Amino acid sequence: MSDSSRRTFIKAGMVGGFAAAFSKLTRAADATVHLPTPSEIEGPFYPITPQKDKDFDMTQIEGKSGVARGRKITIEGRVLDTDGQPVEDATVDLWQANAAGRYRHPHDPNPAPLDPNFQGWAIVQSGRQGRFHFKTVLPGAYPASGNWMRPPHIHFRVSKRGYLELVTQMYFEEQELNESDLLLMRKSEMERQGMVARRIKDEPETYRYTIVLQKL
Ligand SMILES: [Fe+2]
Repeated sequence: MSDSSRRTFIKAGMVGGFAAAFSKLTRAADATVHLPTPSEIEGPFYPITPQKDKDFDMTQIEGKSGVARGRKITIEGRVLDTDGQPVEDATVDLWQANAAGRYRHPHDPNPAPLDPNFQGWAIVQSGRQGRFHFKTVLPGAYPASGNWMRPPHIHFRVSKRGYLELVTQMYFEEQELNESDLLLMRKSEMERQGMVARRIKDEPETYRYTIVLQKL
């Protein structure tokens, strides 16, 4: 072996070593990324009035020509397990307040107006690669108790046979009220990372949210 080819050989070996070490690091990082999504209380406003239209587009109700009031947003979601493997055919049941912060629920004490064109409740399935998506409006903040204002959030119940059912709430990054929310601030910094959707696009305004389920 000539000197120069030996140098190349040694160099390649070193690169291989680094690559192996790096992939170990990546795996360690993955394990952190795939912590199960923290659960959160269901809250009192899970819909109790039956409704026919529960499709992925919450900005319009079937049979009505109007469109929901508020900032239209899209959520690009994914359901994974703790190994990072996609979970297909999970049922993603979600509900939220309208843009004014009002739930379509008979017990919501908020005097903010209802929006007759806002669907407010959707049930979608995760598909290929565990992906799902839905269109909605940015939920309004609403008063909880005392001077506590709930930040914009969406409630989720995610289920699939063989996995622990998850009930949680999803938040939006860059919302000032996140910092003073009594529920969200009870979580650790790492848990909060898993509960806040990241803005990935402005036009149309799109957020990414990853749900991690635990196997039974
Ligand atoms: Fe809520």
